[in-house]
Amino acid sequence: MDNSNITILKIGGSVITDKSADDGAARMDEIERIAGEIAGFEGKLIIVHGAGSFGHPQVKRFGLTGKFDHEGSIITHMSVRKLNTMVVEALNSAGVNALPVHPMACAVSENSRIKSMFLDQIEEMLANGFVPVLHGDMVMDTEMGTSVLSGDQIVPYLAIEMKAARIGIGSAEEGVLDNNGEVIPNISNANFDKIKEYLGGSANTDVTGGMLGKVLELLNLSEGSNSTSYIFNAGNAGNVSGFLNGNNIGTAISGAGTRSI
Ligand SMILES: Nc1ncnc2c1ncn2[C@@H]1O[C@H](COP(=O)(O)OP(=O)(O)OP(=O)(O)O)[C@@H](O)[C@H]1O
Ligand SMILES: [Mg+2]
Repeated sequence: MDNSNITILKIGGSVITDKSADDGAARMDEIERIAGEIAGFEGKLIIVHGAGSFGHPQVKRFGLTGKFDHEGSIITHMSVRKLNTMVVEALNSAGVNALPVHPMACAVSENSRIKSMFLDQIEEMLANGFVPVLHGDMVMDTEMGTSVLSGDQIVPYLAIEMKAARIGIGSAEEGVLDNNGEVIPNISNANFDKIKEYLGGSANTDVTGGMLGKVLELLNLSEGSNSTSYIFNAGNAGNVSGFLNGNNIGTAISGAGTRSI
């Protein structure tokens, strides 16, 4: 199949949930607004959404980044599924032919990194006009039993495997910010060492590294694929549709340059 025009969009859990809550709290108004912005897009699209308060607090409560736990894995998976159902239903109500794809049912990790993922159904969905909607999830792990799979890791994995043309990560800040709160326009290996001191975790509970984790995943992607990805604020009305329509907003992460030592 011709994958040259696939767009991958991540919608941060920081936007579609209240991340300061200690159990799943959805922001339905934001989910519906974003679904409406996506509805105008006609190209091939894969959506990945974050877990927000439907996943991070549960992982923390059961200590799932460090140990295996049946109950915690099940509770966390069922919770992120609930958020996924809300997102998929809102997309369908807005006129998007969205279908859920749960990583627990199609991906296996090894020490918290994706080892394999069954992609055939995603390819067929795209070929037939559906929009697959994946999410941060608990997945089976060959070394750990189960492990957390971040949406921020799913995006670059799919971008490489599906040869996506355009990659955007919508979160709750205007982009990656420097110490003055200004958006850093470009990040590559050439300037990463200079700007990494500005990168932190999340202001709220985030078990997958917050902004630093996101930038590292995307830098990794830019090395493996030569593609550019964008971190922008999906909380601002018009940014998701703007990105989908080809506007390059927020911070661009690209493979230009080599890492200074
Ligand atoms: N330099 C920085 N620039 C911007 N945000 C930063 C920076 N350093 C740390 N952050 C924090 O990272 C947060 C974004 O990461 P976070 O993981 O909370 O959101 P998300 O990935 O959208 O949510 P989820 O993981 O649920 O999908 C910001 O809200 C901010 O608190
Ligand atoms: Mg996060």
